[in-house]
Amino acid sequence: MANEVLVLDAIDAYYGDSHVLHGVTFALGEARLLGLLGRNGAGKSTCMNVAMGVLAPRHGNVRVAGADMTGHPPEAVAAAGVALVPQGRRIFKSLSVRENLLVAARPSQDKSAKAEWNFDRIYQAFPRLHERQHQIAGLLSGGEQQMLAIGRALMANPRVLLMDEPSEGLAPQIVAEVMATIRRLKEEGLSIVLVEQNAKLVFDIADDIVILNSGHVAMAGKAAELRTRSAELHQHLGVY
Ligand SMILES: Nc1ncnc2c1ncn2[C@@H]1O[C@H](COP(=O)(O)OP(=O)(O)O)[C@@H](O)[C@H]1O
Ligand SMILES: [Mg+2]
Repeated sequence: MANEVLVLDAIDAYYGDSHVLHGVTFALGEARLLGLLGRNGAGKSTCMNVAMGVLAPRHGNVRVAGADMTGHPPEAVAAAGVALVPQGRRIFKSLSVRENLLVAARPSQDKSAKAEWNFDRIYQAFPRLHERQHQIAGLLSGGEQQMLAIGRALMANPRVLLMDEPSEGLAPQIVAEVMATIRRLKEEGLSIVLVEQNAKLVFDIADDIVILNSGHVAMAGKAAELRTRSAELHQHLGVY
């Protein structure tokens, strides 16, 4: 694949003695959206932890835009242009909306970037955050907190955005709004890994799909090709 912006190459990862990822390999291409699917406990968040440098793999490599980032700390991975919207959002609930955005702000590394993310652009993209910029973040609705978590990641001006189950716990209409936001970010050229349990959501917007089962890559390929393999999808995802 041309211009791989994030590569997990033959990753083995453990929590203590517990072997969670087994030779996991996938690559995110520039300006593409990769859907990472799998049942609860399949290892999706662990892949995000490895990509972000939160968990060092025991074997294998992590590369960001060609640079070996294996074992580098999260600050270094962030400086290389990767931002994570964590599962469960993890916004700073006692800080205001604006303060949440401010703590993540980082100038763009990529001089060719069309437009830098700053307060004005975030508030334009998420008018509700503008209206509520001085409110304590813990008082926002679930959907607003998710928008804030996305806005906060964008303030770091990443070239790679990792999103871990952004639809989790949100009402269907809010999920649709979040997905529309993700689609817009992709159209603007951001490279995105979208982690989901809900396969239907992901097949609608992903270019590429990776399906994990018990820490192994069970299926991988272009979304258009994988979506036709319904028996296998059912086997690995249960619901499709
Ligand atoms: N901090 C941790 N310590 C020990 N085991 C963990 C930890 N986090 C996750 N696990 C285990 O690792 C496996 C993969 O978890 P995770 O990556 O969170 O899956 P997913 O995000 O696909 O639901 C699960 O069996 C889970 O119980
Ligand atoms: Mg998870």
